[in-house]
Amino acid sequence: MKVVVLTGAGISAESGVPTFRDADGLWEGHRVEDVATPEGFLADPELVLRFYDERRAALAHVGPNPAHVGLAALERVLGDDLMLVTQNIDDLHERAGSHRVVHMHGELLSSLCVRCGRRTPFQGDMLGAPPCGSCGKGDLRPDVVWFGEIPYHMDEIVDALVECDLFVSIGTSGAVYPAAGFVQQARAYGARTLELNLVASEGTHFFHEARHGRAGDLVPRWVDELVNP
Ligand code: APR
Repeated sequence: MKVVVLTGAGISAESGVPTFRDADGLWEGHRVEDVATPEGFLADPELVLRFYDERRAALAHVGPNPAHVGLAALERVLGDDLMLVTQNIDDLHERAGSHRVVHMHGELLSSLCVRCGRRTPFQGDMLGAPPCGSCGKGDLRPDVVWFGEIPYHMDEIVDALVECDLFVSIGTSGAVYPAAGFVQQARAYGARTLELNLVASEGTHFFHEARHGRAGDLVPRWVDELVNP
């Protein structure tokens, strides 16, 4: 059976990583337009670099939860028949043991050089203008897909959506496209579709089945059902 899993901020919430769409509409006290758009970066690069430096440093204080661990266990059973696509820029799937994570919105632990275009593994702070690991110049930006930019790996993801038998969306509000549209694409090509989320997402009616609760409870239970039918 071929499975595509899409994860969002909700899967990391129980690890202590804040989600984006909290009641006050702010992300860690900032307007999303100020810290997650190319225009925001042009207007105030220091603010944006500091913001992502703080998010990167915060990774040291969080760890994977049972939902991440459950998906790593699923990868060990399904191998290449599982595609794990995440909108998250944290590395909690990898730290739980998943090896083939598709980061469609980029990664905190990667830099993008504005000068040479290379993406390079990155630790530490970007605010002091460290040199690019590839061209040696100092024009790094966070390797994060901002609003108005094109997500990574879309061809690979669409191929997997067309081929999969089961599409599962975990911990995402269904507010941001193209990820919010994956359920309809998978369903149009014949997949069964399942939502696992704290509450009904904006697209909950597109799914064949929706289960509501904490990812740390729902995901291990669903993985167990799938591998021990
Ligand atoms: N278990 C399961 N779901 C949860 C939990 C939990 N413990 N806590 C919160 N959720 C759900 C919320 O109910 C919400 O539907 O997770 C979802 C998180 O939604 P968002 O904050 O909108 O995050 P996400 O869907 O990942 O955002 C998509 O938007 O800001 C951009 O690029 C950013 O990748 C991000 C994209």
